[in-house]
Amino acid sequence: MSAPSSPAVQENGTTNGISLFPGGKSVQMARETDAHHVGRTLYRRMDSTMSRGGYSSRGGSRAGSRMQSPERGLRSDATIVFSLKESVGALSRALKLFELHEVNLVHIESRPSKTIPGIYEFMVEVEDRGVQGYKNVMEALKEQSVYVYVHSRDQKTPIAEGSTLSNVPWFPRKIRDLDRFANHILSYGSELTSDHPGFTDPVYRERRTEFADIAYYHKHGQQIPHVEYTEEEIKTWGIVFNNLRKLYPTHACKEHNYVFPLLMENCGYREDNIPQLQEVSDFLKDCTGFTIRPVAGLLTSRDFLAGLAFRVFHSTQYIRHGSVPMYTPEPDVCHELLGHVPLLADPTFAQFSQEIGLASLGAPDDWVEKLATLYWFTVEFGMCKQGSGYRAYGAGLLSSFGELEYCLTDKPERRQFDPEKMSVQSYPITEFQPIYYVAESFADAKDKLSQWAATIQRPFTVRYNSYTQSIEVLQRRSHILALARDIRGEVNVLVDALIKMK
Ligand SMILES: [Fe+2]
Repeated sequence: MSAPSSPAVQENGTTNGISLFPGGKSVQMARETDAHHVGRTLYRRMDSTMSRGGYSSRGGSRAGSRMQSPERGLRSDATIVFSLKESVGALSRALKLFELHEVNLVHIESRPSKTIPGIYEFMVEVEDRGVQGYKNVMEALKEQSVYVYVHSRDQKTPIAEGSTLSNVPWFPRKIRDLDRFANHILSYGSELTSDHPGFTDPVYRERRTEFADIAYYHKHGQQIPHVEYTEEEIKTWGIVFNNLRKLYPTHACKEHNYVFPLLMENCGYREDNIPQLQEVSDFLKDCTGFTIRPVAGLLTSRDFLAGLAFRVFHSTQYIRHGSVPMYTPEPDVCHELLGHVPLLADPTFAQFSQEIGLASLGAPDDWVEKLATLYWFTVEFGMCKQGSGYRAYGAGLLSSFGELEYCLTDKPERRQFDPEKMSVQSYPITEFQPIYYVAESFADAKDKLSQWAATIQRPFTVRYNSYTQSIEVLQRRSHILALARDIRGEVNVLVDALIKMK
């Protein structure tokens, strides 16, 4: 963690909306309480490679102890894809193997082979590959199959059968695969550290557990449950909402200010109402295709970024403790709804966010760390040029009254947008940022990101297929041909539209 000696430290206490520490606490206190600041962003941390900005030791230790719901034991799930040598009765024999060896299947599907055109393959999801029978099943399955390959979050595997690409970290291929993140969180519900404002409040802790349970049992395709917020929670929201709204016209980027009235009209953004995640998700879906998923706790950087590849944003639903409405040690619904949501409704920004997510899929750990850092300096704390001045577009700024004011003063350093430099820049997490990177525009930022992302050491290319909501790995001629056909179709539409404009 960098030395917290900037003038910003003196200002943190009383006005900052999301971060830092309540008024009057010393710098030393901030250091001591870092552990819960790790939770400031749900995507932050926690690959073991994360080493900067004060995340390292605590995150590293927490990463090693995955949290599991009390109802669930520690399981190691896996997806097995195989194509059988024979067709008649072969599948039923193969499935019998799983039953015989007591390996529980949670999903079975057949589909056209993605490895060998013209044949079929089967995909099964195994609940726990740690059980005794799993090894026996795999041995028998290999004898009966043309190919078998396994994807598991817990091991690096070849990206496809016959591929020379091995040791590729697991990544979700279908949007439904995001369900697997639910039990891979790094903290759960009411687990608050002793200096959390709600630590000694049993009612608040119980409430946090309720929110965590909603997220934990949420599955892709389900509606996010409607939450009846309490009077106190709405009061807290109202204070944050009113304070920030005063600053938006002069401090927020034009994209944020454009969308905000629409959120008030369509999603119930009001002083006396905390918007419902499902309504906001529906609004975003119409604008940019982004959707919201509730999240029960801290996700790893890799998992959080993977969600963005599918235009899925993992969001908290709980609100900060009412005793200090202008302070929260972790992201809450104010941060998500006021900071993140408005920008996710902007098409160019949405594309930028998805690009970061796509770049992370199957990337080495050190690159995921770089992407997470880039995310920090853009989606969380990004600034851009607008007119003759600067404006904020990062959610960490747009949800923090104190830092939103501060970022436009002459106290912080503002640097030119440069992904290569940004991705390795260290930053503090318990004080205002000393450095902001300023984008010329979202489009310019996206172009620079794409150029930089092309240098990621990942010997394959991925593409999001929005029709099937899945990730395609472009490794084979047939995949690239299919992409070329899609592009040709799009170009035809473009030409047709241009002709008709004449
Ligand atoms: Fe955030």
